[in-house]
Amino acid sequence: MNFIIINGRVVDPSQKLDRKANIVIRDGKIAGITTTNKIPDGYAVFDASDLLIMPGLVDMHCHLRDPGQTSKEDIYTGTMSAAAGGFTSIACMANTVPVNDTATITKYILDECRSHAHVNVHVIGAITKGLQGEVMAEMAGMKQSGIVAVSDDGMCVMNAQLMRRAMEYADTLGLPVIIHAEDECMCHGAVMHEGAVSTRLGLIGKPAESEEIIVKRDIALARMTGAHLHVAHVSSAESVKAIAQAKKEGLRITAEVTPHHLSLTDEALLHYNVNAKVNPPIRDNAHRKALIKALKEGVIDAIATDHAPHTALDKNCGMDLAACGMVGFETAFSLAYKLVAEKQLSVSQLVQRMSTTPAAILGLNAGSLKKGRPADITIVDPRSTWTVDSSQFFSKGRNSPFDGWKLPAPVVYTFVNGKVVYRNERSIAS
Ligand code: DOR
Ligand code: ZN
Repeated sequence: MNFIIINGRVVDPSQKLDRKANIVIRDGKIAGITTTNKIPDGYAVFDASDLLIMPGLVDMHCHLRDPGQTSKEDIYTGTMSAAAGGFTSIACMANTVPVNDTATITKYILDECRSHAHVNVHVIGAITKGLQGEVMAEMAGMKQSGIVAVSDDGMCVMNAQLMRRAMEYADTLGLPVIIHAEDECMCHGAVMHEGAVSTRLGLIGKPAESEEIIVKRDIALARMTGAHLHVAHVSSAESVKAIAQAKKEGLRITAEVTPHHLSLTDEALLHYNVNAKVNPPIRDNAHRKALIKALKEGVIDAIATDHAPHTALDKNCGMDLAACGMVGFETAFSLAYKLVAEKQLSVSQLVQRMSTTPAAILGLNAGSLKKGRPADITIVDPRSTWTVDSSQFFSKGRNSPFDGWKLPAPVVYTFVNGKVVYRNERSIAS
């Protein structure tokens, strides 16, 4: 279907655009952006008055759980959840069962996505076999099968020499290395941020230094190897300082932050709320404020969900045993939009952090409404609000600490290649 979306506020940082305009879509691609009132013959009209139109959101960090853990999520439900969150391109991590450490598993995931995915799925391969941190994974084979980056996310590569070689090797293949920065020796038995709240609760904490130490080590290795280092889910103020310094030096380093690290403090774990147990842990307000400032200043480049669905059984077993992670797709944009409502970020900065920049980091043909690009488009209603009800999620995961929160700017429509993949009946009806 050829159509034109009229009267919306179009925000596309890739062409420095922020104005009321019409988007013409032909054969699944952007045919142009106009400001005239002329409707081309044979085009359906979609009225987006008062709505905000952006290049489809890009999530560079999620967990789809297929193969091996489809009781938590599968490609159909995970990508439907992504579409409902306004994401049109996502990249899934390698900690599946088995781990995505070979060309065959990468190919399996991409094949499954071709038949079951609602959005574009890109695949991240492991750095080490089985995420064991001992032997490098088949990076070249996986690259041939189509991976866009490597990461042992969920686990830290503790051996610095192995990490050095992995960076050298990944760089020859043109792959960014995404790190999960956590000195495991400092975190044995720990379930949350080490601080006043963990002390009050009598729980073992992970100090912020456990992250900073690895961030600083890997910056040194990036300097040594010239590789592109991307720091996943930054949670600590000192990590931010180290990243800012490395950028100033001109190193190839990028970083992401999650909506939950921007929205919550460790007080969310008071009353032993297992849904706020994540890795890295949510830290205190000083860390949260440093993350927001870094996001605003561009020291942190991207917002990524770390969508990590788990079953009720994995979660409802006490703080010590509960799995780490929360679902993120369906609340991410609205949580991030709170920063716009609070005047911490401009809309254009938000779109940059959730679409343009993550697409650029992974080298994807996404994150732009320029002529000729795929018509991947997200439309939200900035005047409206909604209340999170995790029982209504498209994801199989119900593990959200945001249940019951009233949030701004619901996603109203998501288009992938010019096709509607999500339509928010509740918002459209109201
Ligand atoms: O909270 C988390 N959950 N952090 C990770 O690094 C992994 C993820 C998962 O796979 O559940
Ligand atoms: Zn993750």
